[in-house]
Amino acid sequence: MITPAPRVPSQIRVMDTNDIGQVSDIEQRSYEFPWGHRVFRDCLLTGYHCIVLERTDTVAGYSILSVAAGEAHILNLCVDPRYRQLGYGEKLLDDILRRAALAEVKEIFLEVRPSNRKAIGLYRKKGFRQIADRPSYYRAYEGREDAAVFSKRIKKF
Ligand SMILES: CC(C)(COP(=O)(O)OP(=O)(O)OC[C@H]1O[C@@H](n2cnc3c(N)ncnc32)[C@H](O)[C@@H]1OP(=O)(O)O)[C@@H](O)C(=O)NCCC(=O)NCCS
Repeated sequence: MITPAPRVPSQIRVMDTNDIGQVSDIEQRSYEFPWGHRVFRDCLLTGYHCIVLERTDTVAGYSILSVAAGEAHILNLCVDPRYRQLGYGEKLLDDILRRAALAEVKEIFLEVRPSNRKAIGLYRKKGFRQIADRPSYYRAYEGREDAAVFSKRIKKF
């Protein structure tokens, strides 16, 4: 039986280039088709909202959000497998929703693999609803996998 990691205080801050090593390491351990270092560097250069969640001095999760023309898109949201089910995913998503509201976003979107029950559970818990399917959106070991598109309307502060 795996012993859950202890709950310790966590904080959220903006990602910088020095975080890319730790972020990429979590990414490699979390996805079958992970982003490389360069994608994270491009996200920072593009000016996306790139956020990390730290516990003590260790990056335990991160999120990437693009905002344009009153809409936002969650491009990545990930928690280190060692620190899952401690509320960090929800904390990162709350932070995303706060940033979207501050940027006067009206609606926020994301794609998720229909097989990703954990992420779908998190998005539904925070009020996202499925609005569409995007056929053959994701790479898969055999062929392609569809994406489920979820969205949520953002209330003004
Ligand atoms: C999805 C993910 C971010 C959740 O992070 P987490 O820190 O473990 O989530 P939390 O502890 O904050 O849990 C929040 C909610 O998520 C859902 N959830 C989390 N883990 C779950 C699990 N193992 N089974 C079912 N639902 C789960 C639940 O709704 C949970 O709420 P609850 O605790 O009240 O039941 C994490 O599993 C992850 O990084 N997965 C790999 C990357 C990924 O797939 N990202 C999404 C891309 S679209």
